[in-house]
Amino acid sequence: MDIGILRDRVDKELSSIKTIDDVRKVRISLLGRKGVFSEYIDNIKLLDKEKRREAGQEINALKTETENRLRELEISYEGEEKGKRETASRVDITMPGKVPLIGRKHPITQTLDEMIRIFTSLGFSVAEGPDIELDYYNFEALNIPADHPARDMQDTFYIQNGVVLRTHTSPVQIRVMESQLPPVKIIAPGAVYRCDNDISHTPMFHQVEGLMVDKNVRFSDLKGILSMFVQEMFGKDTPLRFRPSYFPFTEPSAEVDIGCVICGGVGCRVCKDTGWLEILGSGMVHPQVFRNVGYDQEEITGFAFGMGVERIAMIRYGIDDIRQFYYNDIRFLSQF
Ligand code: DAH
Repeated sequence: MDIGILRDRVDKELSSIKTIDDVRKVRISLLGRKGVFSEYIDNIKLLDKEKRREAGQEINALKTETENRLRELEISYEGEEKGKRETASRVDITMPGKVPLIGRKHPITQTLDEMIRIFTSLGFSVAEGPDIELDYYNFEALNIPADHPARDMQDTFYIQNGVVLRTHTSPVQIRVMESQLPPVKIIAPGAVYRCDNDISHTPMFHQVEGLMVDKNVRFSDLKGILSMFVQEMFGKDTPLRFRPSYFPFTEPSAEVDIGCVICGGVGCRVCKDTGWLEILGSGMVHPQVFRNVGYDQEEITGFAFGMGVERIAMIRYGIDDIRQFYYNDIRFLSQF
């Protein structure tokens, strides 16, 4: 019996091992029940008594050595395999990526952007004023003296004597006219504040003010500009009407309604069965306002208007509760 041949066979098989599966296969073919070693061990019986013992010892020693070498190979390939599995689970390039949540503009900002786009395309530039405003600009200069009943409608947050959170964007009219001579053609978008809180009022909301002052600015110019705006914002066939109204800083004054975009004018819950939706206040700038800023009211005329952005957005998107804009609920906001 030639143990050398067995040893060569063992070496050859072990050196062919490349994976953990090969380790298992080689173990079976060498050490398995019908493997090479059991074949040799069976053959020992055929030998002479004296040789049997010696051959048995040699084969057993080789068997133990083979088992040890296989175990070593097994451990190292197992580690490699595990490493591969771990690497694969760390970077699985076939896995779909995580889609990052991308924010979007708030519906009020979107509406404001659209309003600004329309008015700037009509030649208006954008002016701004402070949210914390002097009583003088918010009321006095706009012809609303301290005891004027119009103040009741615009109760606000008083910071200290003579300083308020502005109740409308109209004070920007005064600030702009104080700082430049006519012609003036501005819009003033921004936040305003009032002591109100219900389904159609929030303590903070937004307005866009408009002011155009020049020689010969007429009421028909106001009507033309607002018609263009309404057509752009709500569609070409949206009807528009002016209703006589009162504001201390305009004379004459008008409120502007558009035909209800929800029911088309037949009457519904949103327009309270009138077929019309009020969208803004407007008028010809009051001579006293011009005097307050030092403009010569004999030389020039002007129109002004102010509209609520939330109101426009509610009509545009068919929203019936203004407070939805400020709950910060992603389910609501992600619809726009
Ligand atoms: N400032 C008024 C308000 O908040 C709206 C307004 C009315 C603005 C008439 C104007 C205007 O410029 O001419 O109720």
